[in-house]
Amino acid sequence: STAPADWDKPLEGKVAIVTGAARGIGATIAEVLSRDGAHVICADIPAAGDALSETANKVGGTSLALDVSAPDAADKLAEHVLERHGGADIIVHNAGITRDKTLANMDEGRWNMVMGVNLIAPQKITEALVAKGALKEGGRVVDVSSIAGIAGNRGQTNYGTSKAGVIGLVQASAPVLAEKNITINAVAPGFIETAMTAAIPFATREAGRRMSSLLQGGQTVDVAETVAYFANPASNAVTGQVVRVCGQSLL
Ligand code: NAI
Repeated sequence: STAPADWDKPLEGKVAIVTGAARGIGATIAEVLSRDGAHVICADIPAAGDALSETANKVGGTSLALDVSAPDAADKLAEHVLERHGGADIIVHNAGITRDKTLANMDEGRWNMVMGVNLIAPQKITEALVAKGALKEGGRVVDVSSIAGIAGNRGQTNYGTSKAGVIGLVQASAPVLAEKNITINAVAPGFIETAMTAAIPFATREAGRRMSSLLQGGQTVDVAETVAYFANPASNAVTGQVVRVCGQSLL
């Protein structure tokens, strides 16, 4: 049709998985997808504890203890959604970690841990969901990258590389997933006010905020609404894209 659709709940009847949903950007993504009508499976590490069930309750969804970097995580998630829901329509790879060190002090442990959670897990999980038919035809994959993967950031060779890798992954996967009518896109947030950025020393944090053309930090909802667009039927023809959220980088 050439006419715009008139949706009240554009994701009604859809099942969405959000990783790292206990807090921060992931929790707000869960809220926004739920507002749009989706049933949201909120996944996070077991250590997230009550915060995870609180998010799940708030959005009227379900919670799943899942370390995305565990060797059996992809299979476990695929089985979970097939058994409980007959498959999922949307997966948002939001779980992410930093383990910052200057290049000279960047040990292999920090490197591998960040790669495992930020880059390898999203790939393995998408692959397993698709291979097992746990992500339905017409499904949506949204990866959370970072401005650090585009513009770089001091002390974050591991993190920046993993987030740049996510962009490569999205672009390389798009034509393959298109065969199943599945789109895959990335959001690349700038500085967003969350626990992750609150942990940064004050001066660096202030500098981070001013690296955006907005000259301030963004809010989790700014990222979540962009994710919701990629999950929305309205973005059917949009795939392999990266959208920066929180101004233009002034780096
Ligand atoms: P956060 O640290 O507040 O929340 C991350 C969530 O992911 C936590 O609930 C944590 O328990 C969960 N998580 C961590 N490792 C996990 C694992 N192995 N399996 C499952 N869950 C896991 O972080 P924030 O700020 O909400 O970040 C969310 C995403 O956005 C991350 O991928 C981050 O890299 C990305 N991002 C954040 C920016 C910011 O300025 N806050 C900027 C650009 C990207």
